[in-house]
Parts: sequence; structure tokens; C-alpha cells
Amino acid sequence: MDNKLLIRKALDAQRKAYVPYSNFHVGAAVLMDDGKVYSGCNIEIASYSPTLCAERTAIFKAVSEGSRQIKKIAVVGDANPTFPCGVCRQVIREFGKDARIIIANSEDDYREYTLDELLPNSFGPEDLG
Ligand code: THU
Repeated sequence: MDNKLLIRKALDAQRKAYVPYSNFHVGAAVLMDDGKVYSGCNIEIASYSPTLCAERTAIFKAVSEGSRQIKKIAVVGDANPTFPCGVCRQVIREFGKDARIIIANSEDDYREYTLDELLPNSFGPEDLG
């Protein structure tokens, strides 16, 4: 799947964001190594802490369906650009050490990063032996 299509899916998911408290809309779409794509939006909860970022919504959907290896993830948000938070970077690390992360403002305006660029010297599953 090409980057534009993955970004399109993230943009579609962004429209579904449930954000009554921040009004900040985020969408993500992950391409897994089995070729499947899962998308997600952020979901906010009145007591705040259960709030889930778009990236984790998409990744947890994938893992719960049996897809475990992230090839690429596209992220879009109301800030141009919107980068994944630290917690989401660590979750990407768990399922995509070699993942590429596409930070997009639109289908035609994006930059691609490696996970290592966004989370250098990371701790991951291998460190637990
Ligand atoms: N948010 C995401 O969905 N992904 C990120 O990586 C950054 C933050 C959401 C969480 C919350 O619903 C809103 O953006 C404001 O922080």
C-alpha cells in the first residue's frame, strides 16, 4: 500500500475522533506486515486518564485481530504536524522496531521517519531476554 492511501485512511479515521474535552482530532492507520490495515482515532473519557490516542487505537485493533508486526503507521492531527506522544512511540516500538512513521499534514504533504529517529536508544522486548 502506498503512503497516500495509508494517509487517506488516517484522515478518514480522524473524522471519527471522539474528543469532547480537547477538541483535538487525531487519526492513524497502520499497515501490518501481513498486508492488513487498521485505522483508529483518539477517544476521550470524562475522567480523562482512560483516554486513548489514535495510534494506540489502531495498533491495539491490529494486535487483537492477530497482526503483530507494524510496517508503517500514518498519523494525522489538528496540529500540522502532529507527532506521536511518548507512550505511543513505546507502543510502536513493541510491535514495530523497524517501523516507518509517516507524519502527514495531507496526502501530499508528509515526512517519513524511522522509529529509531523518534525513539532513540529505546528499550524493548529483546531487553527482557
Ligand atoms: N493524541 C493522540 O491521539 N495521539 C498522540 O500521539 C498525541 C495526542 C490525542 C490524545 C487526546 O485525545 C488529544 O490528542 C489531546 O492530547
